[in-house]
Formats: sequence, C-alpha cells, structure tokens
Amino acid sequence: MINFNLIREYFRMQVNEIICWWWFYINEISWQLLIAVTAYFCVCIFLYSILRKVSHAAWQLPGPPARILLVTAHPDDEVMFFGPLVYWVTRSKASEIYLLCLSNGGDRKRKEELWECTKLLGIPEDNVTIVMSTELPDDQNVQWPTEIVAECILQHVESYKINAVVTFDKHGISKHKNHISLYFAIAALCIEKKVPHYCKLYVLESVNIIRKYVQVLDLPISLLSASYWYLVTYDQKKMIKKAMTAHKSQYVWFRKLYMIFSRYTFINTFQEMSALDLELDLQFDDE
Ligand SMILES: *[C@@H]1O[C@H](CO)[C@@H](O)[C@H](O)[C@H]1NC(C)=O
Repeated sequence: MINFNLIREYFRMQVNEIICWWWFYINEISWQLLIAVTAYFCVCIFLYSILRKVSHAAWQLPGPPARILLVTAHPDDEVMFFGPLVYWVTRSKASEIYLLCLSNGGDRKRKEELWECTKLLGIPEDNVTIVMSTELPDDQNVQWPTEIVAECILQHVESYKINAVVTFDKHGISKHKNHISLYFAIAALCIEKKVPHYCKLYVLESVNIIRKYVQVLDLPISLLSASYWYLVTYDQKKMIKKAMTAHKSQYVWFRKLYMIFSRYTFINTFQEMSALDLELDLQFDDE
C-alpha cells in the first residue's frame, strides 16, 4: 500500500526548500544590484561636478578655424537634438556656424518659428538656410532622394568653405527616414570622394531608448564611447529649453517631457565618418 501522505509531505518539503533557496538568492543579488546602482549614481554625480567646472565642457570637433555646417531635416531638430553643440559653437570665437534645414516641416509658420529659435540660440538669420522642395516632404516614411540632398549639402560646403559637416547617423535618432536620408547623402559624398579635402564629416550618435531618456545618467557611457562630445550644465540647458519654446506649434506636452528627460538636450556625442568605415559597413550589410 502506497502512503500518499508521505509522498505529499515529501514534495512539500522539496518545494519549500526551492522557494527558500530562491529567496536567499534574490536577496543576495538585490544587494549587489543596489550597490552597483548606487556606485553608478556616484560616478555620474562625480563626473558631472568635475565637468561643469571646465568652462568649455566640450571636446571640440578638430581643425580650427572651424566653419561648421549643421544639416537638419525639420525646424526644431537643431534645438531638440543638437542643442549642446549649437550652444558651444555659437559661444566660441574660433568657430562659425551655418544651419541648413532641408524642409519647412510642412507648414509656413514653422519657418518663422525656426528663425525665432535660431535667434535665441545665437545663429544669425543670414547663416540659416531653409530648403523648400516638394521632393523633400516632411514624412517619417519617406526616404529623400540622395542625389538632391547630397548636391544641396555640397553646394553649401563649397560656397562657405565648410570645415565640418554635422548631421544624423544611420539610425537617425528614432529611425526617422528623413533624418536617415541626410546620413545617406553625406555617406554618398564620402564614398564618391566628392567632399573637398578641407572638410570633414561628423554624425550625431543615436542611442537606445533607455539611454535616450536618462539625462545625466548617460554621462559615463557617452564619455567612454564617443570621440567628440559637447556637454551643457543644467543652467545652460535652460537656455536650450527656452529656444525650444520658439517652436510654438511643436511645443506640445510630449515634447515638453522630451526636453526635460532627453539626453540629447544635455549631451551630444559625435563620430567622424570615414570612407574606410563606410566600405566595411557596406561589405558587412552585403553578407
Ligand atoms: C554667421 O556667418 C558669418 C559669415 O557669413 C560669420 O562671420 C559669423 O561668425 C556667423 N555667425 C555665427 C554665430 O557663427
């Protein structure tokens, strides 16, 4: 005769033991996690407090006298994504900045807003060009024709003798096709060796969704991973936020939240584009 009670008892003990063991394990791990998180916070605060004391909290793009061309897709990109770069470049005596915005965002009002915003940022109206073309619609599913965009950028580079072109990378912050078109355009110029020898190309690093919204907590990772970076303090960031309010038609609740939590309004990291890297990239994609 099988004693079911005994078997049941046995299983209960086993289960109890497993739960106990798990509880112990989770306890152990959570302590380690807590310590790791605290240590990370301390590193962030330490880095921030050091860097804010450095008056030029930036590793500048190389090669003065720097004439920088910032290429964006829509009015408001310059302040939402490139704020720290613009902040420091407009304050540097050694640099000049030009903004090329390749659409008016589908509304004539937004042109006025862009001028208002660049005035607050310190870019004179004469240094801002807004392209209006039916071939370059504001639509996140439309890839703009590479030749048109490339030609437009090249014209600017040649007529202003630009030393550094800055735009989005191949992820375009949020995989926005308009943003990515700008990357493809400068990649094409680079591969076809059409860029004048005095000009270098830089792209703004896109980060994953977690890093995108952790503000200053992204500092250690950014500093380790990037070649060039621009950083603003909380005080300086207020000015960028103020400039964003000029985009009245765009400044709705979710963009207000974005301006508070985003890392891009606080730190910009750049990589230089090189023909060699691009060719490796292409080979990798082919395989
Ligand atoms: C705007 O462009 C002019 C030359 O066209 C230049 O002298 C000036 O420094 C530029 N402004 C800024 C803020 O870079």
